Amino acid sequence: TPRVFSGIQPSGNLHLGNYLGALKRFAEAQDRGTETLYCMVDLHAVTVWQEPADLTRATRELTAGFIASGLDPTRSILFNQSQVAEHSQLAWVFNCVARMGWMQRMTQFKDKAGKNAQNASLGLFAYPALMAADILAYHGTHVPVGEDQKQHIELSRDIAMKFNHDYGVEFFPLPEPVIEGAATRVMSLRDGTKKMSKSDPSDMSRINLTDNADAISRKIRKARTDPEPLPMDAKGLEDRPEARNLVNIYAALADMSVDAVMAEAGGQPFSVFKPRLADLAVDRLAPISTEMKRLMRDEVAIDTILADGAARARAIAAPILRRTYDIMGMVGAP
Ligand code: TYM
Repeated sequence: TPRVFSGIQPSGNLHLGNYLGALKRFAEAQDRGTETLYCMVDLHAVTVWQEPADLTRATRELTAGFIASGLDPTRSILFNQSQVAEHSQLAWVFNCVARMGWMQRMTQFKDKAGKNAQNASLGLFAYPALMAADILAYHGTHVPVGEDQKQHIELSRDIAMKFNHDYGVEFFPLPEPVIEGAATRVMSLRDGTKKMSKSDPSDMSRINLTDNADAISRKIRKARTDPEPLPMDAKGLEDRPEARNLVNIYAALADMSVDAVMAEAGGQPFSVFKPRLADLAVDRLAPISTEMKRLMRDEVAIDTILADGAARARAIAAPILRRTYDIMGMVGAP
């Protein structure tokens, strides 16, 4: 049976890329009736320094972002990673399965560690093994993510395969990355060749889920573009990264295909297309921002949702970890 698992780091600045590439699609999976678990991956966040008070706030804000995006804590299991010890325990097992060479190939590690990789935390290097543990502690089969996580999910498959092979079992499923829709890689509004990211120093490069209607609209109207009107069809977007990005965002927000957007908007100058996109974005995103702010006023309610989710998550993960240890020959209580 399919079981969907995915996670987001509580590291602040939740943005439009996280919404279109992840949250919106998480809600769609839930609404299709699949079993869904979604995790605020605080243990991943601390692979780089986090001020404790910021981590606390970002975890609650992310939880509010999930709920405001349509995730229902009674239909999906919403929880934070550190509350379910099985993630860390299985991660250790996978640290012993994964090979140094596999980890060294991870492009995200190379990007995040930068030139001075000797000074990166050991946790940052082991990050993808913890991701594999997140998914496989639940025997997760489908993992909705943005394009940037594809390599990590493939590594999870390699880890599952090697564990099964080494111990001669068919225990862990091979999780599949689900990377679908028009906006699996939302680009910066300042530079169409760079991914929209939480860590971009320019706030104008991204739409934050906490932005109000004014900010959303201003950022879209000021988004960088080339001077030409939109082409007549999707093919004409190929070497125009900024135009393509705005069309992709429009398509994803409107639940339309890129071809359908081009049929409607092809040939329009940006002076016409941008205000339309700004209206659509305000219509879809401003209510999320308002709802997040409302939810954030009741921290106890948020913490209760996370604690309840953690208890339900643990009930699934604990027997899978116990079985993993048994397969490996770890002695447990009779
Ligand atoms: P994170 O926190 O960086 O991002 C969360 C999700 O948002 C997607 N995303 C984007 N999608 C489209 N366009 C963008 N510009 C954009 N930026 C981010 C990401 O692809 C991701 O789906 N390692 C993961 C979190 C994680 C995880 C997991 C995911 C931990 N354990 C297990 C799946 C399964 C991460 O750092 O995502």
